[in-house]
Amino acid sequence: MLFRNIILTTALLLSAGIAGAAELLSPDGNVKLTFDLTAQGEPSYTLSYKDKPVVNNSLLGLKLKDGKDLVDGFVIAGETTSSFDETWRPVWGEESEIRNNYNELAVTLEQPATGRRMLLRFRAFDDGAGLRYEFQWADGDMQAFTIADERTEFAIPSDATAYWIPGDNDSQEYNYTRSRLSEIRSNMDAAHVGGPLFPSLSSPTGVQTALMMKYDDGLYVNIHEAAVLDYPAMNLSLDEARQTFVSDLVPSVNGEKALMRVGDVTPWRTLIVSDDARDILASRMTLNLNEPCRIEDTSWIKPMKYVGVWWEMITGKSTWTYTDDVTAVRIGETDYSKLKSNGRHGANTANVMKYIDFAARHGFDGVLIEGWNEGWEDCAFTPKETVYSFTKPYPDFDTDQISAYARDKGVSLVMHHETSSAVRDYERNLDEAFRFMNKYGYTGVKGGYIGELSPRGEHHYSQSMVNHYHYVVDKAADYKIMCFAHEAIRPTGVCRTYPNLMANESTRGSEYHAFSGINPGHTAILPFTRLIGGPIDYTPGLFENDISKYNPYSKAWVNTTLANQLSLYVTMSSPIQMAADLPETYERFADAFQFIKDVALDWDKSVYLEGEPMEYVTVARKAKNSDDWFVGCSNGIEPRVSEIDFSFLPAGQKYQATIYRDGKNAHYRNAPQDYVIETKTVTSKSKLKLWTASSGGYAIRLTPLR
Ligand code: NOJ
Ligand code: CA
Repeated sequence: MLFRNIILTTALLLSAGIAGAAELLSPDGNVKLTFDLTAQGEPSYTLSYKDKPVVNNSLLGLKLKDGKDLVDGFVIAGETTSSFDETWRPVWGEESEIRNNYNELAVTLEQPATGRRMLLRFRAFDDGAGLRYEFQWADGDMQAFTIADERTEFAIPSDATAYWIPGDNDSQEYNYTRSRLSEIRSNMDAAHVGGPLFPSLSSPTGVQTALMMKYDDGLYVNIHEAAVLDYPAMNLSLDEARQTFVSDLVPSVNGEKALMRVGDVTPWRTLIVSDDARDILASRMTLNLNEPCRIEDTSWIKPMKYVGVWWEMITGKSTWTYTDDVTAVRIGETDYSKLKSNGRHGANTANVMKYIDFAARHGFDGVLIEGWNEGWEDCAFTPKETVYSFTKPYPDFDTDQISAYARDKGVSLVMHHETSSAVRDYERNLDEAFRFMNKYGYTGVKGGYIGELSPRGEHHYSQSMVNHYHYVVDKAADYKIMCFAHEAIRPTGVCRTYPNLMANESTRGSEYHAFSGINPGHTAILPFTRLIGGPIDYTPGLFENDISKYNPYSKAWVNTTLANQLSLYVTMSSPIQMAADLPETYERFADAFQFIKDVALDWDKSVYLEGEPMEYVTVARKAKNSDDWFVGCSNGIEPRVSEIDFSFLPAGQKYQATIYRDGKNAHYRNAPQDYVIETKTVTSKSKLKLWTASSGGYAIRLTPLR
């Protein structure tokens, strides 16, 4: 079965001018997509699952800046169907083998008025469907064109419950809102707060992908996008009168959406559907709609558990800046050696070496260091050409000493490249920056894009920015550097093709526990939304809830129990996982910290045991190159009893289960550090009930008993 690849092609080449409705079924027959042209020659489709409507008749097409739009006046020039079945191996991920099995319908449309040919490619999988546009004419009226608007519609059959964040063009860092579709607009202002650095830049009318929905007839439906490359990200604006979402692409600085050429394809628009919420989590459709790996030698791409000089700055205990005299400093002009440190600069040699020691002592792979380089004093959130140096350390950061120390201790270093969105400057300096990393043995880079972009008015998820993020990943591969960026484009499965893209933050990450807050239930919705496209750098592992313990001026609180923090290492799979809290806190909770030390980062198999958007997610995963299994349950705001059926374990084998769970008084606000660690023997016949607190959960390590 492995790597079997069958392509059956039944060509139904119809002659140009003959309209033909077509139907496409998934391999198991549950997903049905129909295609048709309207009387005006507009392409349209419907989608159903087990005969229940998922998308009612919806139009497809693209509006162009110049010339006739690609929305109507089409005739069918050909229809081809084929099937595909292949099993492939990702470099890292939730499973060591992924089956990619679909039926395909490719409809060639001709627009006689312009001589253009556009192909619509539809794929039906057992767990949903994808569609994309391909521009294929040889002799049409234009070879290059500008998309003014994409008109991909999703007509939702009922006033479904949606789990959404605002369709902001510059931030993905929002708490999720649960509301009926009809209530999205009235909830928009309340949903668009705390979003964080640039709320004034956009006034969203729609929502962001991935959009999770639950229909009243029990269907779970997820609208997303796959393979977003050389194209802007898609928001979904809601036409309430028609209960229809319409694609709303992130514009460039001049309002255009995408520059295209004949031969190009758009990203896939995806609909994942099931009557069982767990199937949404198990779907591999987004990865399957991306191209196979393009990096030949992937031996240097290695999952990494890391600690870092980070939380101390986020909480305000220390600073990224070297000096507090921010007005005296200008990048490229200031001689830092003449300035005095503020005494609270985090990335000083002694402190970094403390983290390296801690990482080595506890078996971590890497240490991230932020605030090591010149420029932080000048990082005001206004667009600027040059902000940071990517090769000049602050005077109290001894690069030679630190990298030699890390090498001796067998610890990798992760460099931080905050750009403050001065992206052209970053591109100009990228080769030099990566050469510097190679010289000092850094294996990973964390990027950052806070603030407004330069040029002003350019957006974070426009076509040119999508190209920028991709350029960095591609260039990093030349230097054998693994990447994850914050504030960059959301994951759309591109890590299949470029597996040195380990993760992107793209979400309201743990840092918000120290800022304006994270709502309970957040990590029970992220697996249904942001993680559909791939891993995120969520930075879990916060054991100290009371941030005033680190910074007396802070009133912030971590809105989860400690057991919930442990569960996240399993429920939110990522090949890079941080243990974000301070070393001294981990020393205080050494017994619970043991789970973070033990948990795997890369998996042979994942089994989704329980799931309901925003309520709870329970996952069991088998570690790669080990017989250990791990189980995680992240609970939402309502306390609940989770029931685990261990039948996922191999029959006949006994396991020792080390369980880290909420204590009986646990509550994210009142008693977050009330946890219990206990051991039990389990087999595939065992069943276990575990109570989970409000914003609580549990984590289990299962080791075979000989
Ligand atoms: C926001 C990022 O999410 C965070 O991880 C980083 O430390 C700061 N920006 C500074 O770059
Ligand atoms: Ca961020």
